[in-house]
Amino acid sequence: DFTRLPVDDSLFGSPVSLYRHKGYIFPGQLVMSGVFKELPDFQFKQEDVLVASYPKAGTTWVQEIVYMLTHGCQKTNESSEILETRFPYLEYPYPGIKSLVLKKEKRFIKTHLPISLLPTSFENSGAKLIYIARNPRDTAISYFYFMQLLTQCDYQGTLSSFIDMFLSDRAMYSPYFGHILGYWEARHNPNILFVTYEELHQNPHKIIRKIAEFLSIDVSDAEVNHVAKSTSFIHMAANPSVNYEHWKDFGFAFKDKGTFLRKGMNANCIL
Ligand code: A3P
Repeated sequence: DFTRLPVDDSLFGSPVSLYRHKGYIFPGQLVMSGVFKELPDFQFKQEDVLVASYPKAGTTWVQEIVYMLTHGCQKTNESSEILETRFPYLEYPYPGIKSLVLKKEKRFIKTHLPISLLPTSFENSGAKLIYIARNPRDTAISYFYFMQLLTQCDYQGTLSSFIDMFLSDRAMYSPYFGHILGYWEARHNPNILFVTYEELHQNPHKIIRKIAEFLSIDVSDAEVNHVAKSTSFIHMAANPSVNYEHWKDFGFAFKDKGTFLRKGMNANCIL
């Protein structure tokens, strides 16, 4: 049930293929990797912690908050493992599902899968999932710059052509609204916490405490302050363990097309 979609090649400097699978759009690279054959059998464990999102919603930010909270509120730095290793990306071959399956210690899992495509073992596993949602305007703009930054995409189109792609549900992991709604409808599940980029931006201390409570972690006000400060945009942008600058050396990102932690603004202020 993978349908290859027509792609306007003039919009991308690199060969990009897109597939629709059970109503959602995925990059050909993931489809070809065979990861979708492994996902249905993936076994979640009770102690797993997931961070789920539509891309560019603030995933990295929440991942680092969760990681600090679960590691004695210790700040990570240039000598820490990179976030991709600490917090593998479920629907990615490596580091991703393959490293997660082998991990013996407590697992931290990032995913952009919609709730309808989460491996079914999630349901009765007791694993905890934090979903972060961001308003569509800021998400789409962040996504546009990200597609320019990634060498595998090398997006050449205008902002308006990207917005057309986003609004017509042809961007990877779209439809955006279906993605958010699926998790929103599951927000009363005691193992799911739904937060927004906007509330995290407006009151990081409050949301960090809410995440800690959800994960049953006791934190003092001083620890919350420390986590908030260490995961502020300015600190994360300067932290090589979370800022994805190494992608430039690996050839995943262009050196001269901006940074992963781009602006970190809540431009829409919808709350
Ligand atoms: P912008 O491109 O608008 O700056 P994701 O991690 O889901 O890919 O989301 C990336 C977006 O979250 C980027 O948005 C990035 O700058 C922003 N972001 C990451 N860390 C942040 C932080 N500590 N504070 C505020 N925004 C952050």
